[in-house]
Amino acid sequence: MTGKPLTILGIETSCDETAAAVVRGQIPGPGEILSNIVFSQTEAHAPYGGVVPEIASRAHLEILDDIIEQALDQAKVCVAELDGIAATAGPGLIGGVMVGLTTAKAIALGAGKPLIAVNHLMGHALTARLTHGVAFPYLLLLVSGGHCQLLGVGGADDFRLYGSTIDDAVGEAFDKTAKILGLSYPGGPAVEHAAKTGNSRAYDLPRPLLNRRDEARADFSFSGLKTAVRQLAQRHVSVADASAGFQAAVIDILYDRSRLAMAMFRRDFPGANTFVLAGGVAANQAIGTALTQLCKEEGFITRIPPPRLCTDNAAMIAWAGVERLTDGAGGSALSVSPRARWPLATGPI
Ligand code: KG4
Ligand code: ZN
Repeated sequence: MTGKPLTILGIETSCDETAAAVVRGQIPGPGEILSNIVFSQTEAHAPYGGVVPEIASRAHLEILDDIIEQALDQAKVCVAELDGIAATAGPGLIGGVMVGLTTAKAIALGAGKPLIAVNHLMGHALTARLTHGVAFPYLLLLVSGGHCQLLGVGGADDFRLYGSTIDDAVGEAFDKTAKILGLSYPGGPAVEHAAKTGNSRAYDLPRPLLNRRDEARADFSFSGLKTAVRQLAQRHVSVADASAGFQAAVIDILYDRSRLAMAMFRRDFPGANTFVLAGGVAANQAIGTALTQLCKEEGFITRIPPPRLCTDNAAMIAWAGVERLTDGAGGSALSVSPRARWPLATGPI
């Protein structure tokens, strides 16, 4: 790809991270992250054991201006030098999305720059291009607090769904398991840490849908596993062993479903062999190691962004802005609305 690299400000406020970043780059990447500021509201939500939407949107409103200023300062870029302003327009907690998107609209309008309304999931889905310059097509396992999907990614706007969760998202299962076991919020890192000293075979936990091959989908289910952990916790069990058992069951499920999706992906894209892991749960080292092993067995190359680019951040939103402005779709209308729900396959707005 030749041409001038684009410099984009990204804004992310869809959950409990208030984030702004400046990224410079051109497709297919890798891009240069000039700044990446993430303010985590964890402390404000911790007493409630989960994100409280009203607290989140107020906190975004209080701090976002300052975070954007820090991102621009650290990048040594002024608004006039930007090629566009990208902000998460959904899916997510609507109050928070409104704060980020409205702020982006104001900056874009004031500076006469394009606004890019970004799908948060697209941000996660394209991060491996920002970090590794991964070419299309690739198989993507997107695992976050709200989503668990296997997708064939044929282009920045070509997503083929091979499977998704029929109940809980995998990050949600980690968070609920942590709560049941009395571990701290957010649950994913706490369960991973506790699992390190545990025996994964101490308790027999279910692996729903494992080895299911009777349909043309690689779907996931985690609610039975969560219920089993709840029942287990009613006895006096070792938190480390229960965490290790839960994480091992999750790994078995992700491994089996990803292997099934690899066959579907190969049918759609003969000869392609890149497997990308993205979303907050991709920060889990044990999951990364297991899926890297699967890729070795199946002849795939694994690409996993570094942990701080797996969990929510604005660099991935800025990068999605680079992709959008490059692919000719252009900027979004200033009248664009925030969306609480926004499946990946719907296309740009
Ligand atoms: O992508 P993300 O930051 O936010 C959403 O878009 O949902 O993902 C957050 C989720 C949370 O459920 C969190 O517990 C999980 O990712 N997570 C982890 C780890 N780090 C974050 N799950 C397992 N192991 C981790 N190390
Ligand atoms: Zn996310």
